[in-house]
Amino acid sequence: MKWLSRDLYLPRRLLRNAASMAVGERIGAASTPTLPKKVAAVEALSEGPAFQRLRDLILAQAKPVAGERALDIGAGTGLLALALAGLGVETVALDREPAMVRRLAEKAAALGLTVEGVVGDAAALPFPDRSFDLVVSNYCYHHLPAAGKEKALREALRVLRPGGRLVFADMMFSLRLASGRDRRVVRRIVGKLLRKGPAGWLRVARNVARTALGRGEEPAPPAWWERALLAAGFEAATVEVLAHDGGIASARRPA
Ligand SMILES: C[S@@+](CC[C@H](N)C(=O)[O-])C[C@H]1O[C@@H](n2cnc3c(N)ncnc32)[C@H](O)[C@@H]1O
Repeated sequence: MKWLSRDLYLPRRLLRNAASMAVGERIGAASTPTLPKKVAAVEALSEGPAFQRLRDLILAQAKPVAGERALDIGAGTGLLALALAGLGVETVALDREPAMVRRLAEKAAALGLTVEGVVGDAAALPFPDRSFDLVVSNYCYHHLPAAGKEKALREALRVLRPGGRLVFADMMFSLRLASGRDRRVVRRIVGKLLRKGPAGWLRVARNVARTALGRGEEPAPPAWWERALLAAGFEAATVEVLAHDGGIASARRPA
């Protein structure tokens, strides 16, 4: 954890200061009220302690080095991409929502950081083979169905150079409630939503309907991810279960 405290100290301070000053002054006041709802929701999530901790865990496992080239998949408004760029990593941020990429670009500019924003799909990456040293992602893959996740892993492998690393966090449990942990996680999520009152009840109802129609979020359990990483061609795959609904996975493209 020495690495984490030494090397992440500066970017974290930079981000915090910039978030309260440069972003607040230059783009926050002007553009936050008009942010699309989805973008505002992702940004709020990324500023909360749970996602900030996930960012630190991912970066600690990824061990980015200044000068490397990294891709952040499902980058949202830049939780990982801005931190990587702050560490001197040449960073590309991909998201399927143009509004996320636009917001990320605003934030990068306000922070004086360079991030290349790209609109695209995790399952069909618009990059040549072997073009990155590192691929990271946070809470994106559960938006893809199982076949899409498998395709996304094969794509991550393809764009990594031999020996390149993939590190990602995501919701990791089964909606089939196969294990005691699955049941605890779902009970906790549903309970939290129900306590929010009518808006939360509506979200539960909407999610149940979407899942029944096969259009909802599709978290996969840790064992599924481990198998899928190896099947996609990665080696040294590890998946660590976290205290909440999430898990963190890392793997390497064979040299
Ligand atoms: C929960 S947000 C997380 C954003 C960011 N990684 C973070 O940690 O703050 C999920 C993001 O994944 C993006 N996303 C979902 N499905 C995607 C896909 N198939 N390809 C690319 N991006 C996708 C969404 O637009 C959204 O920005």
